[in-house]
Amino acid sequence: MKNLIAPSLLSADKAHLKDEILKVEALGCEYIHWDIMDGIFVPNKSFEVSAVKENAKVHKMVNDVHIMVADPMRVAPEFIAAGADLITFHYEALECPVCCGKLIKKIHELGCKAGISIKPKTNVKVLKELVKQVDLVLVMSVEPGKGGQAFIPSALGKIKTLRKWIDKQNLNCLIEVDGGINAETGAKCRKAGADILVAGSYLFGHDDIKERVESLR
Ligand code: DX5
Ligand code: ZN
Repeated sequence: MKNLIAPSLLSADKAHLKDEILKVEALGCEYIHWDIMDGIFVPNKSFEVSAVKENAKVHKMVNDVHIMVADPMRVAPEFIAAGADLITFHYEALECPVCCGKLIKKIHELGCKAGISIKPKTNVKVLKELVKQVDLVLVMSVEPGKGGQAFIPSALGKIKTLRKWIDKQNLNCLIEVDGGINAETGAKCRKAGADILVAGSYLFGHDDIKERVESLR
């Protein structure tokens, strides 16, 4: 099990994105989490591909791109070209294990790591076979679409189930959790078996960000 942190730029100061990225890199965070929204799969819109392109190479963290979009087949290659190291798409956007498998293959062929995410109401069982094909599984612990929501505890059971599957088969797949993460919920997720904690509103916009990052280890 790993002990990694992925600050979500959704809560960062968009006017000073590069500074925000360099700040969390200096604090030792290993991943930088980009939330991409199309206004269809989720009501809001967020970063354009240009924002990733401009900032992907200013740091050495993993560009962790979470695409909350209705058409991940079209969108994934655009973000890979922009510098994504890892693309995580939603199971619910395709609702078909064979199609998910095709997209995972396509992402890998383009030289990128592939992740799959499930929303809070989706049963973890849909990932039983797909977990063998991906580099990462992202468990959403809030409804995707915005930052600052409260952690949904049912995510913990999903993390435990995934941890069991992954360890039993010795798979090379990381478990990431996203939404409502703070020191308390983060500790519960680590205990359940999460490798990577995504945190947005808990980290950005606070003077004690250094202590907050440390509290997630
Ligand atoms: C929600 C996004 C999250 C979000 C998390 O749709 O996927 O990454 O930024 O925000 P917090 O940490 O504030 O819940
Ligand atoms: Zn996210």
